[in-house]
Amino acid sequence: MKKYVANVLMRYLEMSEEEILSLLETPPNRSMGDVAFPCFTLAKTYKKAPNLIANELAESVNDELVEAKAIGPYLNFYFRRDRYAANLVKKILEKAGKYGENDLGNNKTIVVDFSSPNIAKPFSLPHLRSTMIGNAIVNLHKALGYDVVGINHLGDWGTQFGKEIVAYKKWGNDEEIKKNPIKELVRIYVKFHEEAEKHPELEDEARVWFKKLEDGDEEAVRLWKWFVDESIKEFEKIYQLLGVKFDHYMGESFYNDKMERVVKELTEKGLLKESEGALVVDLSDLDMPPAIIKKKDGSSIYATRDLAAALYRKDRFDFEKMFYVVGNEQKLHFEQVFAVLKKMDYDWAEQMVHVPFGLMLFENKKMSTRKGTIVLLEEVLQKSIEMADRIIEEKNPNLENRKEVAEAIGVGAVIFNDLKNHRMHEVNFSWEEALNFEGETGPYVQYTNARTQSLIRKSTLTTEKLTEFDGQFIAGDTAWELIHMLGQYPDVLLKAADRAEPSVVARYLLDISAQFNRFYHQERIITENIDEQKAKLALSLATSYVLQHGLGILGINAPEAI
Ligand code: ARG
Repeated sequence: MKKYVANVLMRYLEMSEEEILSLLETPPNRSMGDVAFPCFTLAKTYKKAPNLIANELAESVNDELVEAKAIGPYLNFYFRRDRYAANLVKKILEKAGKYGENDLGNNKTIVVDFSSPNIAKPFSLPHLRSTMIGNAIVNLHKALGYDVVGINHLGDWGTQFGKEIVAYKKWGNDEEIKKNPIKELVRIYVKFHEEAEKHPELEDEARVWFKKLEDGDEEAVRLWKWFVDESIKEFEKIYQLLGVKFDHYMGESFYNDKMERVVKELTEKGLLKESEGALVVDLSDLDMPPAIIKKKDGSSIYATRDLAAALYRKDRFDFEKMFYVVGNEQKLHFEQVFAVLKKMDYDWAEQMVHVPFGLMLFENKKMSTRKGTIVLLEEVLQKSIEMADRIIEEKNPNLENRKEVAEAIGVGAVIFNDLKNHRMHEVNFSWEEALNFEGETGPYVQYTNARTQSLIRKSTLTTEKLTEFDGQFIAGDTAWELIHMLGQYPDVLLKAADRAEPSVVARYLLDISAQFNRFYHQERIITENIDEQKAKLALSLATSYVLQHGLGILGINAPEAI
C-alpha cells in the first residue's frame, strides 16, 4: 500500500519513490487512513505551512484507488477498499501459485553451501539447522529469479579416517555397517577413543593409515570410499524426509588436488609465512589470528580446503553471491577465509556471506556426540510423524492419504519450529510445542491452509469462475486487514532473502493464518448470497496460495486436507 501511495504522490511532487517511501507512515488507527504522508519536510521547499500543503495536496490528488484527506499537517490516504481488494485478490488468483515471485535475480547465480555433515559421525542438530535454513535460502532465491547452486560440503576427509580404518580393522562388522552405517561407524569410532586412552600406540597406527589414505593406498582408499558411500546413503534418508536436494555433493576430499593452487598463489603473492614450522597467512593487521594453510607435517587443513573451494566455485559458477550456512562457532574461520581472499586481491570475497545460526536444544537440553546424548535425527523425524498420525487419527479418522499427511505434518512441525525463530536465537525443540495445532507452529499454518481448501471443496462454485467478483464483500475490517497483509507478501520474500532470514517468512505465515482464522470465525463464507460467497471464496483461495507458497519456501508440504 505504501508503494502504491508513493507512486500516486510522485505524480504531484518532485520526489523519488524512495524519498517518499522513507517518509510514509502507518497511522495509529485505521480511522485515520491506511497510509499517512507528513508534510513537514515540504514546508521548506514550498515555503508554506505544512497544514496548507496537506490541504492543497488533498484537493489535487485524484486516483481511482485512494482518496486523500488532510488532517492537520498530514495527508492521509484512504484506500477505496472494495476496489483495492478486488484488484489485489484478482492479481493473486491470476498469478496462481506464483504470486510473490519476481525476476529480480535475472538468472544470476547464487551458491549456497549448506548442511555439510561429517562422514561417519551422526547427523547432528547444527547440521539439521544448516539443512533447513540453507534449503529455505535456496528456495527464496529461486523464487526471486536467481539460478541457485546448492552444495553439500561434506566433511569427508581428515585424520579421523585413519582412526576409523584402524577401528574398523579391529572391531568393525561389515553386516552392521551395511545395515546401520552411522550407528556402527560411530560405535567403533567411540571405541577407538576409549581404547586409545589405554593404548596410545593406536594413535600412531591411525596416523599411518591416514598417511596411506593421502598417498592413495588401494585398501585405505577403498575403505574410506565405502564409509563415505554408506554414510551418504544414510544421510539421504534424512534429506528425503526433509525434501531437500543438492545440486552437488562436493565434500572436502573433492579439493585434494586443488590445494596446491592455493599454496602456489599465496606464495606468488608473497602472503605465506613460516611460523613454528607451519605455513600461515598473517592477519594481525586485521586483529585476527593467522590463518594456517599447511601444518607442520605438511598436511592441509579445513581452511585451506575452503580457500580451494572458493576459488574453484568462483571459476565454475561465477556466482554473484555465495552463502555459507554454518553455525556461529565458525565465525572466525569464515572471517579468516574471506580475509585471506581479500589479501589475494579477489574483490569477489565481498560477495561471500557467512550465515550463522544459534544452538539447538532438545527438550531444553544440550546434545553432545561424545556423551552419547545425541538424538538420532531420523528417529526424531519418525517420532514426530507418529505423533502427527495419532493427532490426525483423533481429528479426522477417515482421512484418505493419512500416511502422507502425517509425514507432512510431522516433518513440517520440526522444520517450522526451527525456522520461526530468528536464526541467531537458540532453538528449543519440544514435542508438545512443535506439534500443537493451535500454537505458533507448522501444523497450525498447514491446518489453516487445509481450512481454506475445505471451504473451496464445500462451495458449489468452481474456482475458475472466481475471477469476477465484487470487492465490497471483502472490504470489512477483518477482511481488509487480511488483504493488507497479503499485499505485503512480495516484500516479505525480498526482505527474507536480503537478510538470509527465513523466520521473516515463517512469522508472516503465522500472522496471515491468525488473520484468516479471525475472518473465518467472524464471517460466514459459504453464504446463500452467491456474489458474496464468490468474493469471500476468492479471498480464501488467495490466502491459500500465499500460505502454500510460503510453506514451500520453508520446505514444508501443504496437504489439502488434514
Ligand atoms: N563439515 C563442517 C562441520 O560440520 C561444516 C562445513 C561447512 N562448510 C564449509 N564450506 N566450511 O563443521
